[in-house]
Amino acid sequence: MAPHPSKAQLLKEVEILRREIAELRSQEGVHQRRAKGLQGAELQLAGIIQSAMDAIITINEKQHVVQFNAAAETMFGCSAGDAMGKPIDRFIPERFRANHRQHVQNFGKTHVTDRRMGALGAVSGRRFNGEEFPIEASISQFKKNKQRFYSVILRDITERLGLERQLLRAERLAELGTLAAGMAHEIGTPMNVILGRAEYLMRKTSEESTKKGLTTIVSQVERITKIMNQLLSFARQHPIERRPLALSLVVQDIMDVIQERLEERDIRLEVDMESTCPNVSADRDHIGQVLLNLIVNAIQAMPRGGTLSLRLRCRNEHVHLSVSDTGYGIPSEHLPKLFTPFFSTKEVGEGTGLGLTVVHGIIEEHQGSITVDSEPGQGTTFHIHLPVHPTP
Ligand SMILES: Nc1ncnc2c1ncn2[C@@H]1O[C@H](COP(=O)(O)OP(=O)(O)OP(=O)(O)O)[C@@H](O)[C@H]1O
Ligand SMILES: [Mg+2]
Repeated sequence: MAPHPSKAQLLKEVEILRREIAELRSQEGVHQRRAKGLQGAELQLAGIIQSAMDAIITINEKQHVVQFNAAAETMFGCSAGDAMGKPIDRFIPERFRANHRQHVQNFGKTHVTDRRMGALGAVSGRRFNGEEFPIEASISQFKKNKQRFYSVILRDITERLGLERQLLRAERLAELGTLAAGMAHEIGTPMNVILGRAEYLMRKTSEESTKKGLTTIVSQVERITKIMNQLLSFARQHPIERRPLALSLVVQDIMDVIQERLEERDIRLEVDMESTCPNVSADRDHIGQVLLNLIVNAIQAMPRGGTLSLRLRCRNEHVHLSVSDTGYGIPSEHLPKLFTPFFSTKEVGEGTGLGLTVVHGIIEEHQGSITVDSEPGQGTTFHIHLPVHPTP
């Protein structure tokens, strides 16, 4: 039988046990502190994710959504509740889905932790209502409880791309303006000389065939001058001079110019002008150019003939001028682009797509408005409203 331990021995063992307990307790404290620390970090991360300006979506290995922050709700027009647990596919346009799935799987096989998506091309998102939009995306992966997750950070770049496009167009237009001004100067002088000589020779000769040839030269030079003027006013190189103007006078001017062309093309002209229309405050040349552009478009829209109608009405403080044709009309998808520079459905060399841009610019400068009604296969009407010249 073992002898009883002495009191001193017992005290020693109690002391050892006490130290061990204290040691364990302090370790427990470390764990608790660590757990608390982790909890705090998780809360902080959740706060950052929720308040981020970019959309952040986390998906699991099956590519189902497990996290969907507030910015993602706004971007995709879908509540987190509706997104959670569902495949990520619904936020990707159908044609990109298979590719995207493969891309994420391949990424999972690498040891790379994060990567920018779509480095080789644009990435598109799909809002809940089906609308597609361009995005910039980066992806990262992590493991938790032996499961793999992917987090994507997304930014809607619709606005940025729009601004870039506008800037490009503005640069193109500025270049065109400089080019037009330079060309007008260089070409204008020799054109005037040619015109002057041709007219001089026309007066001198009595031979019919020579006269005919010279008439062709004159009309072609006039055509070039007209194109130059179009480019110039597009580039806003010569300022408008507004005076009280009866629009009926402008219509008269134009009728003289177009008569021959209408006959050649089998187009009937109908003119209906209210005789008591007040004056508008406008530049005669510029309004003439507006009308000419609309009429040329109308003529071009009626290759097999038809009717061109010019109407002048006055309503309240506005004068309303309309140009109608019975031509092939404008498809509805073209309507929003009509007044943008270089939009043309005509063959290269036949249309520059500047006509309506010039028209729109001039009408805006006159504080007026222009609208269009069109029925494909039936015809088109352009309506211009100009404010009446104020009577002092
Ligand atoms: N009356 C019309 N009927 C049918 N389509 C029209 C009519 N007016 C304009 N369009 C459409 O709008 C487009 C743009 O017209 P716009 O006058 O700006 O350019 P364009 O006629 O093509 O070239 P240009 O610079 O020589 O005028 C045309 O190409 C045509 O498709
Ligand atoms: Mg045109």
